[in-house]
Amino acid sequence: MLSVRAVSGLALAAVLSTARLGLASPLDHPAYRSVFDVDAVASCSATGQASCQNTTVQTNLCCFNAPGGALLQTQFWDTDPVTGPDDSWTIHGLWPDNCDGTYESSCDSSRAYTDITGILTSAGETELVSYMETMWVSNSGTPESFWEHEWSKHGTCVSTLDPKCYTGYTKGQEAVDFFKKVVALFKTLPTYDWLSAAGITPSSSKTYTLAQIQAALTKNHGASVYLGCNNAEISEVWYFFNVKGSVQTGTFVPVASLNSAECPSTGIKYLPKNGGGDDGGGSGGGGGDGGGTVFSGSGTLNVYSSGTQKGCLISAGTWYTSGTCATYTATASGSGFTLKSSKGNCGLSGGVFTCGSGVTSTVFTASGSSLMASGSTAFSADSTASGSTQVKVYSGSSHSVKLTVQWAS
Ligand SMILES: *[C@@H]1O[C@H](CO)[C@@H](O)[C@H](O)[C@H]1NC(C)=O
Repeated sequence: MLSVRAVSGLALAAVLSTARLGLASPLDHPAYRSVFDVDAVASCSATGQASCQNTTVQTNLCCFNAPGGALLQTQFWDTDPVTGPDDSWTIHGLWPDNCDGTYESSCDSSRAYTDITGILTSAGETELVSYMETMWVSNSGTPESFWEHEWSKHGTCVSTLDPKCYTGYTKGQEAVDFFKKVVALFKTLPTYDWLSAAGITPSSSKTYTLAQIQAALTKNHGASVYLGCNNAEISEVWYFFNVKGSVQTGTFVPVASLNSAECPSTGIKYLPKNGGGDDGGGSGGGGGDGGGTVFSGSGTLNVYSSGTQKGCLISAGTWYTSGTCATYTATASGSGFTLKSSKGNCGLSGGVFTCGSGVTSTVFTASGSSLMASGSTAFSADSTASGSTQVKVYSGSSHSVKLTVQWAS
């Protein structure tokens, strides 16, 4: 999308002043339409006073979140029933709570949309929808019904998402901004990875203390979080922010939780989603039907060096020897298959095995359970992964540590 900055200041000023006069016709000119696809709130300062921390009354609530100046990005860890990937927490929502921790809800029934999928798809956000279908899922209903609920209950209460904040508003536009922001924010809050880096990994037997979990997340978020448990099993985290500017384009400032944890201080379980042990075994599902390859359904990618298994690939595609292996999904494609992790599609990017949202899928093949890229099972790295160091995996044997990557399901 064209950014406001891409338009010369003069032209923009002319367009904006015309808009202020309420003259509709210039907006229909295609050259202008793209400018007006940009939210009016794009012009909010993102460096002003943060919501809930303002020292003077803020009157432009299109550029300042009030009430509801505490924005919470909330996440679930669902194990019964399981939702989402084994190695990722899932999205609950983005809630505009009041500065004292109370909150308003269902603020505008006229905007309780019933086809979020359609609204996002019409706005060209098909990748967003597919990410949400993986990461923003309910343990009791369809993703669509969950998104509708989160939008109408919480999204409609965000002051900067009010339709009157938009120039040339089209129905549903503010909901598109909401869902884009929630997902973007969630991607900056990788709870699973942060816990894993602190040695806190899912286990059916181990327990953790509240202080351990809180410390691992506080260190990364920069402020304390709310933690929720069910029967002493960790199930929820809420990350709190105040915002300078609008939810759409403002700066999110991490702030301490307004709610105290609802978890015991010791003996907290962090159960695996795959229901199995804590060795990262895949979640079953047989292979063998996808054009004769074992790379089918979901599995893990184990790394072998000098004939011995040493760790596995984690969701970004890097090699790691501690923590739980990522679950990869293999899908038949052309004469081989593509791979995907919770981070996104996997491909060779500059020769490096990488998975992420902007990655173009590579069509891989296999020899038995060995992954092949460009017809070779050879992969290599600059060093052997150990402890919490993640190592890049290259296709081909030109780097010093020779590897093979094997599928296990
Ligand atoms: C901050 O701004 C909000 C919204 O205008 C207002 O209600 C609140 O009183 C302001 N706080 C201070 C300390 O001025």
